[in-house]
Amino acid sequence: MSKVRTAVLISGRGSNMMALVEASRAKDNPTEIVAVLSNKPDAAGLAWAADKGIRSIVLSHRDFKDRAAFENEISRRLAGAGVELIALAGFLRVLGPEFVTTWEGRLINIHPSLLPAYKGLDTHERVLAAGDRETGCSVHFVTPELDGGPVIAQARVPVLPGYTADTLAARVLAAEHRLYPEALAKVASGRVVLRDGRVVETGTP
Ligand code: GRF
Repeated sequence: MSKVRTAVLISGRGSNMMALVEASRAKDNPTEIVAVLSNKPDAAGLAWAADKGIRSIVLSHRDFKDRAAFENEISRRLAGAGVELIALAGFLRVLGPEFVTTWEGRLINIHPSLLPAYKGLDTHERVLAAGDRETGCSVHFVTPELDGGPVIAQARVPVLPGYTADTLAARVLAAEHRLYPEALAKVASGRVVLRDGRVVETGTP
């Protein structure tokens, strides 16, 4: 079985990237993580990926005259590595409409809330402030609207008495590490596609 050549884009710790790499090693997993790209040279996950023999690419947005130039170079480098699918995992740059359109249906992200609730940053603090009893994480196709693309999969996490933002972040992160590989595999295998702006389950095994 030839695997789908996948890149993971990070800006920091990279724990979701690590979960995707580990899952991709299973024989029946449809992805191969062929590149890890970071906009921060000191992103902790980069060294981990390089150590595993995965091509690591650093492109600092500061070295480009504008967002479009930065994103064109990302596309060029990933295409050069034969990348077919992109997973954002804590990549802290907003991607513009041209990039998103180029990779439409082949660009996914993980977000630490039950979207459409709590788009943006500080999700756990906002969940606690609202007194919610449940939160979770979502994997979605990326569209030009920040954290607004159609949801592929979600995992729920209860908010128990005494939880702080840190405990909640740890619980949700553990759920992310299970959810993201499953969701990526669904997209890579074609079981889930983006069609006319919606997530469609194709029934492909
Ligand atoms: C995760 O919580 C993810 O949902 C969010 O950024 C965080 C990245 O963590 N988009 P890591 O770098 O994967 O450890």
